Amino acid sequence: SRLPSLLQTMPKAELHMHIEGSLEPELIFALAQRNGVQLSYPSVEALRAAYAFTDLQSFLDIYYAGASVLLKEDDFHDMAWAYLQRCQAEHVLCTEIFFDPQTHTDRGVPFEVVIQGLTRACERARTELGVHASLIMCFLRHLSEESALATLEQSLPFRHLFIGVGLDSSEKGHPPEKFARVFARCKALGLRLVAHAGEEGPPEYIHNALDVLKVERIDHGVRCLEDPALVQRLAAEGMALTVCPLSNVKLCVFQTLAEHNLKQLLDAGLKVTINSDDPAYFGGYLNQNFLETFEALKLGPREAYTLARNSFEKSFASDDQKAAWV
Ligand code: ADE
Ligand code: ZN
Repeated sequence: SRLPSLLQTMPKAELHMHIEGSLEPELIFALAQRNGVQLSYPSVEALRAAYAFTDLQSFLDIYYAGASVLLKEDDFHDMAWAYLQRCQAEHVLCTEIFFDPQTHTDRGVPFEVVIQGLTRACERARTELGVHASLIMCFLRHLSEESALATLEQSLPFRHLFIGVGLDSSEKGHPPEKFARVFARCKALGLRLVAHAGEEGPPEYIHNALDVLKVERIDHGVRCLEDPALVQRLAAEGMALTVCPLSNVKLCVFQTLAEHNLKQLLDAGLKVTINSDDPAYFGGYLNQNFLETFEALKLGPREAYTLARNSFEKSFASDDQKAAWV
């Protein structure tokens, strides 16, 4: 069949990935060595063996521990550069990269170190790889509104280096409303707005991400199917859902890929995209997500085209830039 090669070579955009989730175990150990950081796993193999998650929180605990090796600007650059080279190899022409500043600033790493390292990799990607990479700053929703506001304040000198803000980390118990004032300020600053909603949390969180936070895309959103009125609304608004199939299986949102609801979401007329979320932790980069999902759900070239087109259409790139891609 020619489908795998179509999926691998077709131009596409990635709209939902956390750069800290691209940190491969080998790079975690190399950076630990370089920075003199002590890890609580004896080897790359032992660390990888710990990647058996039961839910979102069990993953987040290991993901934040892995990020502890990131200290210097070069560390952030090297992590992002490895991911961006992968984008070029996989025909990802555009990527909108999440980063979690609080994970680093809470350990004493200056905001500037994080964003300058990531920016240097994004600029190199544009000139050396032909990959268009932008940054989206995420607030950790398990932390306070006050901490998010302080992070926004710290980011203002670097406002020109990121295109938008997002909301990630532990969803249940941390509804969108908690960040209403933070997102209102971001909107006033002209930032693009997205939020994780309906990954583990209920459909109500998707409604409130739209109504209260005024987001322009929903990250995950797979639980919307529990609320037919919400599905109607998402379809009518042409709202993007940045779905992450391998992530959803690793975090037990669905037991198997064959049980994933991506096809139902597409059939309901929703603007679905496929994304890798945290590729180093969930078993593959973007093309692996396409390959395994198409196999498990028996999708074909028509769906491939729709998903790739949605990814460019729902990116935050300019219309001129989009015209060059589609
Ligand atoms: N941070 C990194 N990956 C995440 C996910 N899938 N959900 C929430 N927060 C995250
Ligand atoms: Zn995510």
